[in-house]
Amino acid sequence: MSNLPAGLTSLLSRRSQKMVRAPAPDAAQMRQILQAAVCAPDHAALRAWRFALVEQQDVAALTELAIAAMRRSGLEIKPEKEKNMRNWLAQVPLLIGLAYKIQHDNDRVPEIEQTLSMGAAVMNIQNAVHMLGFSCYWSTGLGTYTDDVPEALGFDTLDYRFVGFLAVGTPISPLEPVQRMDAMSLTHVWKPTPAPQ
Ligand SMILES: Cc1cc2nc3c(=O)[nH]c(=O)nc-3n(C[C@H](O)[C@H](O)[C@H](O)COP(=O)(O)O)c2cc1C
Repeated sequence: MSNLPAGLTSLLSRRSQKMVRAPAPDAAQMRQILQAAVCAPDHAALRAWRFALVEQQDVAALTELAIAAMRRSGLEIKPEKEKNMRNWLAQVPLLIGLAYKIQHDNDRVPEIEQTLSMGAAVMNIQNAVHMLGFSCYWSTGLGTYTDDVPEALGFDTLDYRFVGFLAVGTPISPLEPVQRMDAMSLTHVWKPTPAPQ
């Protein structure tokens, strides 16, 4: 990959890393990372993206809140899973809660496009995190699909779609390069059907 532009080398080497610890990006780096998010494509400039930063000293409170919310919503959490979740989050130095303000009846921008724009924003965040030498992991565990977790973060579920958390920090163990599939195996070239003779 040595002849590639640095940006592309970075895109091609990104991988998720769940187990992260401090340091997280500092305030100036976080500003750059979030600025990358708002460069995402955005049909009709809805500016729907929203982010809630949960700093390390508050991750434990969020963990308790999420576990209680999951139980209240009827989700079964096995003791082993709860233990793993607590162990993971005990070290995470920053969570970014990810949401977008939904417009149910926008004539120009169907909901799928609003969702895609949010996905693009989150991808830009993940790439910016990687480019700055940190790692992250997108999780829709932690009570993402309850009402209580998004609402606790300021995202009333009548107005917002909450799409989970990014755990951001420094990888606990060195990242091994990951083997990706050949994109051309997913790709075909379309040709028009020849007109009948
Ligand atoms: C919207 C979304 C939600 C995800 N939620 C989870 C999750 O709750 N648990 C999980 O193990 N992986 C989850 N993943 C997958 C990881 O974030 C990650 O992408 C996956 O482990 C593959 O790693 P890679 O990004 O290096 O290819 C989710 C991915 C996306 C796009």
